[in-house]
Amino acid sequence: MNWLTLFPRLSASDTVSKSPSALASHELSQTFPEKSFRLSVSPVMGDAFTLDVTDEGVSISGGETGLLYGAYHYLRAVLSGTPLSAHTESAPAYPLRMINCWDNMDGSVERGYAGRSLFFEANHFSYDPERITHLGRMMATVGLNVLCLNNVNVHEPAQDLIQSNLPALSAFADLLRPFGVRLMISIDFSQPIRDGLPTADPLEDSVQRWWADTVSKIYEEIPDLAGFLVKADSEGRPGPFSYGRTHADGANMLARALKPHGGVLVWRCFVYNCRQDWRDASVDRPKAAYETYQPLDGLFDDNVILQIKNGPFDFQVREPVSPLLLSLKNTRKALELQLAQEYTGQQIDLYCMPPMWQEVFTDLPINQIQAIAAVSNLGRDENYFGHPLAAVNFFAFGLLSWNPAFDYVSAIKQWVRLTYSFGEPDTQKLSSAILSSRGIYEKYTATLGLGWMVTPHTHYGVDPLGYEFDLWGTYHRANHLAVGIDRTPTGTGYTSQYPEALASRYESLETCPDNLLLFFHRLPYTYRMKDGRTLIQRIYDDHFEGAEEVAQLKDLLASLPFPSPDREVISYRADRQLQNALQWRDVINTFFYRYSMIPDEKSRKIYE
Ligand code: GCU
Repeated sequence: MNWLTLFPRLSASDTVSKSPSALASHELSQTFPEKSFRLSVSPVMGDAFTLDVTDEGVSISGGETGLLYGAYHYLRAVLSGTPLSAHTESAPAYPLRMINCWDNMDGSVERGYAGRSLFFEANHFSYDPERITHLGRMMATVGLNVLCLNNVNVHEPAQDLIQSNLPALSAFADLLRPFGVRLMISIDFSQPIRDGLPTADPLEDSVQRWWADTVSKIYEEIPDLAGFLVKADSEGRPGPFSYGRTHADGANMLARALKPHGGVLVWRCFVYNCRQDWRDASVDRPKAAYETYQPLDGLFDDNVILQIKNGPFDFQVREPVSPLLLSLKNTRKALELQLAQEYTGQQIDLYCMPPMWQEVFTDLPINQIQAIAAVSNLGRDENYFGHPLAAVNFFAFGLLSWNPAFDYVSAIKQWVRLTYSFGEPDTQKLSSAILSSRGIYEKYTATLGLGWMVTPHTHYGVDPLGYEFDLWGTYHRANHLAVGIDRTPTGTGYTSQYPEALASRYESLETCPDNLLLFFHRLPYTYRMKDGRTLIQRIYDDHFEGAEEVAQLKDLLASLPFPSPDREVISYRADRQLQNALQWRDVINTFFYRYSMIPDEKSRKIYE
């Protein structure tokens, strides 16, 4: 089930060739046939809308898509029983509100935890138009407007999506257009070579011409394509470095091909040395993106957007904001979040993301970025999200991308009401359980900012030494005395990439938040925390408490009247979450006990 449960049925045939404004009136009159709605299109308003509710009826003004967003704003509120003001004016913070799917054409989904691809199977498009309609509707109800269809790691034969697959791509785009959702495609920087050119050097005329021609052909089929997404020179992907060119050279070349058609070029900044020597403590992976891109600030064309992950590593449970997001002043930027729960429970463990996003925006001024994207948590499972409650993150991401200052507590309640129609006490219980889940998960997997103690490759489950002697640059360097990395000027110097206020906050042990302590500092187990506990005691306490709280969460979920099949799916996943939390508790506590040989003050069971 998901938040469209109370919306009337809408099938692909209802939406065919409809404009978003026509769809808006269809949705309103279908849901409330007895009510009077007045919609007026004002093209300059774009995605924005005004909504007036009086005894006589409901009036919405907005651009083509603004009307649709206004209609859905109204429907979400009324169907969930959320009070609605008599007059609402609303406009999105960012023009591009993107979902990035990491779907491969063989039907697999990289870091996908909700089944196989909704779009592809056996190297072809393979989808149910009804489900794609449902996806478009899910996106539009929360204001999302760009869907990047394929994995940033462009595996065979997805390179050809922009060539031989154009008719299929165009038919797919038709299904989403009524919802104001535009397609984006991940491309392979070396595609000209695959098509017979001797090089993909961005400064070569022949390469530039190849891209300009290819892009023109795409826009003949899909005139509203949003643009391209590119992962280059990252984890083995081809890129401009092979030709001694910069990322500005590479990105601008593609952006110039897209420009005449109104397309944008989204260029990911996930660039670091993924073949690091763990023996070399002078190299510190979180510094990499800033070092690559800061010198290029101001050199990117105006239709280039640099897409930067929220933290300097890679979607860990707790990371400080990426300094690159704060430092680039003359470059358009998108914040990249990950809805797919790669490190955050894989849609088995419950994990509520909005509190973590709000922390990002505490340090990141809203207008410091120009777009927002999230790696998708969607898949072919009946409920689209694997864990039925993981849908709340997708729903909330839409609202965040519209307004990063949104009230996420109310949003979660709205989602619960729309999805389950529980009575008020159960709505309250479930909303609180969802809200608490991030803190609980952090306790048993990533206390004090320690990340990466996960099973290599799969990234689910505990393995404290799994990445410690590997080449990915993700180390905690625990020994019998201390744990953590000194990233202050006395250590790797990473903190100097931050503006002064944040740098000094992180550098001082007085002001560094506990939840990032071991991200920024290397400390002995006997270090006294602000609350008087020793560091090792805090590690033990968090793991015992985390597992205990998972047991309580499981009981609470079992007490709620979820309908089938959600009830069974949630119960099965809650069992697995508990097993996971117990394993984390015992492995991590034993690991640090064996190093420190300091017993738990409360004499709880720690294995020798
Ligand atoms: C992570 C993830 C990869 C992904 C990469 C990326 O490292 O594990 O599967 O390709 O991020 O963001 O490109």
